[in-house]
Amino acid sequence: MNLGLAGRVALVNGASQGIGYGIAHTLAEEGARVAVAARRTPALVAAADRIARETGAEIFPVQCDIRRAEDCERVVAETVRRFGALHAVVNNDGAPPLGGLLDFDDEAWRKAVEQNLMSVVRLTRAAVPHMKTAGGGGIVNITAISMLEPKPGFGLSAATWAAVMGFAKTASLELGRDRITINTIAPGLVETPRLHKVTEQSGKVMGDFAAGIPLGRVGTPADIAALVALLVSPRGAYITGTTIPVDGGLLASLR
Ligand SMILES: NC(=O)c1ccc[n+]([C@@H]2O[C@H](COP(=O)([O-])OP(=O)(O)OC[C@H]3O[C@@H](n4cnc5c(N)ncnc54)[C@H](OP(=O)(O)O)[C@@H]3O)[C@@H](O)[C@H]2O)c1
Repeated sequence: MNLGLAGRVALVNGASQGIGYGIAHTLAEEGARVAVAARRTPALVAAADRIARETGAEIFPVQCDIRRAEDCERVVAETVRRFGALHAVVNNDGAPPLGGLLDFDDEAWRKAVEQNLMSVVRLTRAAVPHMKTAGGGGIVNITAISMLEPKPGFGLSAATWAAVMGFAKTASLELGRDRITINTIAPGLVETPRLHKVTEQSGKVMGDFAAGIPLGRVGTPADIAALVALLVSPRGAYITGTTIPVDGGLLASLR
């Protein structure tokens, strides 16, 4: 199936490594022009160079911290200045710290809200006018299945991503007539530098995680990227307002 992404412009946040990198790589393989964003410039530029070399696509690195309001506006503006349009935005980054809900003070909660919720609000607000000009577009939020099946210790993420789900559902109702879709992906366990760190810290190996997953393996960034590519493409234009787990069957629930 040709997704019809050739020549389209995508902005992928948190794209210097892990899931975001995999998404940017896949969109570039599909012929999109891709702006990639992250905080640390050297790693970001290296990632952009590698994607450009391996796919032949035009990749534009933009340093930004999506916890900062002005950076959210700037990353969208710079993408449009460089490529002349914007059709797709992928909201992705790191995650707030783990720990007991009642152990976090207001400042930790404020940071989590800025990172997980306000980044999505601000990037959507900045991107939508350009998508309207382009005649439509697709927004995808990357969260986690811990939002759908909360676990002790993941409360900062679960609470703020639940708000993202509410935002995305409402936005899908308000933006549908402009042919702008917004969907949320809830990954299970995905092999990234972040998961390697968690594995090391907990004294486990990757195989320990794989054992509990019905499909028998930890996911890859490409597993997540394949769905993102469909959702932001013209072929996925009738899918909006959904939350889709991509988890190898890990979430044991009918919803
Ligand atoms: N890996 C998993 O198993 C898994 C499972 C479910 C959900 N998730 C979620 O998926 C997302 C990506 O996870 P990952 O494993 O790919 O993480 P990762 O390997 O740590 O990569 C995170 C990326 O986001 C960038 N980033 C972090 N904070 C940022 C900020 N404030 N502004 C801009 N860029 C930022 C990082 O670069 P800089 O540090 O240079 O900014 C990096 O490029 C996270 O929200 C995570 O919770 C992951």
